[in-house]
Amino acid sequence: MDKDIYAAFRSIGAYIPQKVMTNEDFEKMVDTSDEWIVKRTGIKERHIAADDESTSDMATKASKIAIERAGLKPSDIDMVVCATVTPDYFNMPSTACLISDKLGIKNVQAFDISAACSGFVYALSVAKAFIESGMKKNVLIIGAEKFSSIVDYTDRTTCILFGDGAGAAVIGATQNKEEAFIDIHASADGSYWDFLITPSPGSVNPASKLAIEQGLQYVKMKGNETFKLAVKTLTKDVKEILKKNNLEGKDIPHFVPHQANYRIIKAVGDALKMTKEQVVLTVHKYGNTSAASIPMAINDIYESGRLKKGELMLLDTFGGGLTWASALLPFAPK
Ligand code: ACO
Repeated sequence: MDKDIYAAFRSIGAYIPQKVMTNEDFEKMVDTSDEWIVKRTGIKERHIAADDESTSDMATKASKIAIERAGLKPSDIDMVVCATVTPDYFNMPSTACLISDKLGIKNVQAFDISAACSGFVYALSVAKAFIESGMKKNVLIIGAEKFSSIVDYTDRTTCILFGDGAGAAVIGATQNKEEAFIDIHASADGSYWDFLITPSPGSVNPASKLAIEQGLQYVKMKGNETFKLAVKTLTKDVKEILKKNNLEGKDIPHFVPHQANYRIIKAVGDALKMTKEQVVLTVHKYGNTSAASIPMAINDIYESGRLKKGELMLLDTFGGGLTWASALLPFAPK
């Protein structure tokens, strides 16, 4: 094994669906208010995919941008990893296979990762391992979700939270240590499996008329319990990764947390003594887009010119499983 090969975050791309749903739209659908949603979540609006727009459609659009920005052709990609819990098809084929096909990539290792909101950072850890073991050179990782396909628009406790979208990144091999990922940590505690769940379809509740009548195809969340665990776990996780690498909150120009709830983001940012300028915030305009949330947020700071070559990002996420993950890495375009 060549020990001098490292993983580098080469490029970012995103796709944001056109249709916007505002809090006022939800006021007409369920017993809620713009005031409640903004105060409890920070969300003002979210983007929703068109009926005929699938997760792989959105992912492919984000991927084309990321591949082009990396200065590559689709045929240069030797692995495709898609993080999603709203795949085009629940069992097979994987969404990564569909994305590869839409990109025209043949003979590529392609598979999905199911880690809910933590999926993109889990995918980063997989890309790092494959690249640093010398097995792959250019890995396309994607976080893509059509959460609107599993949301019950009569349930006020969940429907106001989620949006759709996709983000993609190319992770490439480098021998320049300054470009390399610094650290990555991904973890899970399955004993909280029922905090966030879509009960059907699956081997426990296969698709059936009864399952649909009972609304088992919709996402269910123990929101308040998840909230408390998210704040506690994320704060501990980011403090640990910084300490392990002899860094402090002030050393991080771009803290990119999972965008589920402004109150969670603020609590973790405050615990790290971060300023508003350091913390990347998109939850007000995209809502929670699960695995797509972090790459969509990175794309935002890239497109606005805020993220520059060589600057450090701290990524941090928490989601169904329960899963959580953090990563410390420089933005390293060629
Ligand atoms: N409008 C008005 N009232 C509402 C709404 C709404 N949309 N939703 C809930 N309420 C009510 C509840 O019914 C409850 O009423 P009650 O007191 O009469 O029973 C009250 O508001 C408080 O409800 P809580 O659930 O305690 O509210 P909370 O402050 O916890 O906010 C929220 C709810 C926003 C869901 C929050 O708990 C949260 O963000 N949780 C974490 C989400 C998360 O991080 N998930 C992980 C990632 S997602 C993934 O992996 C896919």
